[in-house]
Amino acid sequence: MSEQWLNIALPKGRLGEEAARILEQAGFGCPKLRDNGRKLVLENPENRVRCFWVKPADTAIYVERGAADLGIVGSDILTECEPEVYELADLGIGLCAMCAAGPADWTDRQDRPLRVATKFPRTARAYFAKQGRDIDVIRLSGSIELAPILGLSDVIVDIVETGKTLKENGLVPLETIMPVSARLIANKVSYKFAYERVTALGNAVAAACGRREAG
Ligand code: PRP
Repeated sequence: MSEQWLNIALPKGRLGEEAARILEQAGFGCPKLRDNGRKLVLENPENRVRCFWVKPADTAIYVERGAADLGIVGSDILTECEPEVYELADLGIGLCAMCAAGPADWTDRQDRPLRVATKFPRTARAYFAKQGRDIDVIRLSGSIELAPILGLSDVIVDIVETGKTLKENGLVPLETIMPVSARLIANKVSYKFAYERVTALGNAVAAACGRREAG
């Protein structure tokens, strides 16, 4: 078989599980992809697909730099990082929202910059700039909800999916900044030179997502 291998970056975690299922349904899966093992690279010599697990925030970097031909990534990461990649499809999975949130009794003090804890500094700056509110960004890597509880920040900008994490930590959503969903992205060079395989995968994945929505 002369078909070239396709390298696909998948985000570890909640979205990754759904993404792996979609890839399998589309006929581009790999054996043991959904085994929850520790192996990072999985291959399927039959369909010449190599899938690897990366941190969600790193997916676009692998694709932008060509280490992966394709990737599945949340639109939150694309908005934050603006990578040089092609966005092939909105998969309609991994649905959640980027929100500003804070303690239920929070009121803004206008006498100093608003302290905002987040994994998404650019998104937070753009959102508050539109409101003309000066902010002090506190960049964290996870467990963002802790920041206002401990007085590290006034509010947070973070992903809300079920709302459970906010609720269990005494926080409430203040405003939805944007809806978020998973996107299929492609490396620009791969798109040009492996056009047929990349678009075949894109079409099969989009069809598998459509079938799920219809079902
Ligand atoms: C994300 C996000 C919130 C949580 C929201 O965190 O940053 O903390 O999920 O989900 P919910 O609305 O369903 O409760 P993630 O699980 O990725 O972990 P992290 O804290 O390490 O970022």
